[in-house]
Amino acid sequence: MCGIIGYIGDKKASDFLIEGLKRLEYRGYDSCGIATANEDKLSLRRVSGRVGLLEEAIEKKPVKGIVGIAHTRWATHGIPSEDNAHPHTDCKGEIVLVHNGIIENYTELKEKLLASGHKFKSETDTEVVIHLIEDKIKSFKAEMKNGEYETVFFKAFKKAIADIEGSFALAVLWSKCPDMLLSARLHSPLVIGLGKKENFVASDVSAFLKFTKKVVFLEDGEIALVRKNSVEYFNFAGKEIKKKSTDIKWDSSMAEKGGYKHFMLKEIHEQAESVENTIRGRLLPLEKDILKKEIGLSFKDIKSLDHVQIVACGTAYHAGLVAKYIFENFEIPTYVDFASEFSDRSKIIDKNTFLIAISQSGETADTLCAVREAKESGAKVLAITNTVGSSLTREADYVLYTHCGPEIGVASTKAFLGQLSAIYVLAIHIAVILKKISLKEAGKYVKELIKIPRFIEKLLSREDEMKRIADKYSTYEHFLFISRYVNFPIALEGALKIKEIAYVHAEGYAAGEMKHGPIAIIEKNMPVICIATNSKVIKLLAGNIEEAMARGAKIIAIVDEESKKHIKASEIIEVPKTLDMLSPLLNTIPLQIFAYYIALNKKCDIDKPRNLAKSVTVR
Ligand code: G6P
Repeated sequence: MCGIIGYIGDKKASDFLIEGLKRLEYRGYDSCGIATANEDKLSLRRVSGRVGLLEEAIEKKPVKGIVGIAHTRWATHGIPSEDNAHPHTDCKGEIVLVHNGIIENYTELKEKLLASGHKFKSETDTEVVIHLIEDKIKSFKAEMKNGEYETVFFKAFKKAIADIEGSFALAVLWSKCPDMLLSARLHSPLVIGLGKKENFVASDVSAFLKFTKKVVFLEDGEIALVRKNSVEYFNFAGKEIKKKSTDIKWDSSMAEKGGYKHFMLKEIHEQAESVENTIRGRLLPLEKDILKKEIGLSFKDIKSLDHVQIVACGTAYHAGLVAKYIFENFEIPTYVDFASEFSDRSKIIDKNTFLIAISQSGETADTLCAVREAKESGAKVLAITNTVGSSLTREADYVLYTHCGPEIGVASTKAFLGQLSAIYVLAIHIAVILKKISLKEAGKYVKELIKIPRFIEKLLSREDEMKRIADKYSTYEHFLFISRYVNFPIALEGALKIKEIAYVHAEGYAAGEMKHGPIAIIEKNMPVICIATNSKVIKLLAGNIEEAMARGAKIIAIVDEESKKHIKASEIIEVPKTLDMLSPLLNTIPLQIFAYYIALNKKCDIDKPRNLAKSVTVR
């Protein structure tokens, strides 16, 4: 995930900025850059690659100044390269900007800016913002003549952010007023660090924790005007607001994890954002051909598809299994294979096969091999991935990115929810295009999907409740996860999580299959985790639970307000009620937390479980 650091004070800015960038490296990045202002001159250095390379570039050609901004970029729009690295500049090279987030309406804005003569140098969405600010500055002609640069800068910045849609954390510097930095936040974190005769702006406190622990967190819709000796805060309308500072007690390793003990827990808590960022700008209005515009998937391509074949590994495979229920709910025939099995077996693939490869890293060898084989047989390939520029993106015909930011914990959490979100976006669009559902019906899914991030936040605020249950069961050696229908894959994912990070034996099973074998293993006190939210199958599931209980199982049930009246259990976790088809997005969360706290009790190495790798690049 991209990282921002800004400095304004009385010392050499580049020292603080480079140190800040090093502290942000843990977030993952592919390129980085720095800009400083000295009197009215800007210096800019950017590299594709590590902060070490940037340091070398600065040693060769130093950057002067006591104010500056810097950035680590994790590619989202445009490949990792020097041109796409931040900071970005306006046409004249006088204003510089760093950005985290996604500018949703950047194509529209770019068209207008190009038409009014702006020259773009990168493929990023970010660059529109700097040209927009430049454009707004031009509109304050009279003030500019009078040299009221600071007032103009503030007004232009305010006007520019009013035009952008999406999510952003911004820090901007204009060489004409080097005594101030401007920053603003909408759906992307930003924090101000208050020092002595120096202040900082950053995407997270770890960037400046070495220099100050006194911070002010910006909220959505707030602007900070940062000077050496003061910081003023405003809302987007320009009205001044008062903010309180907080003293941070974290050490630097805690700060990297946002105060969480492990990256995995941090990433579990980032899931509302993963869903929101992945669906943002892709669902409304449905009539607009967003898939064609964004990923080049045309009506014609979609109409020629005969069936969907999904390939993936690990957690991504479980996202594929959920996808089968979603696509087939819209009457689109869908097959799912482990990528390795797909390669091993004989298969019928041709030019009418629409192959979807799901992979967080985009580097999994088995998935890449399956893609190559399918392409040889003429299939069209769409990749769902979190990693721009990965091998999978280069091999696929179309790429639909999940916007989750880098996932550091080896066991996948937020990337899984991102994959599910991308699948909903894709399935809804395809179903509308193929006239499998009406726009009205699609609207029903969209309306509910938009609510999911808030439901996730609500659910995560009850983490303690889930922790208490996990603590109670953390000495058990066997777990059974069961469900039916679209949540059957979530039972598999729940079992996988606990195996991966807590090294405990767990089985995921289709509840209807229990009586055909697995019920034999149930004995007194065996914990059976049952995902019981789907109204369509709730009575059958209630029966399966009774069967397990009759054999002494302890039932831990995930229910919603409607299904709970049907379910008897030792422990109940209630999740917000949503549409059956969307329920995997919520039901996964208690299972992740359950696995996390069992692993914590067992003192396992949660972020780096034994024998596992984040990206498996061998077959
Ligand atoms: C490894 C990881 C899993 C992941 C799987 C697929 O096994 O440990 O967490 O689900 O690879 O990875 P991908 O990057 O293709 O999604």
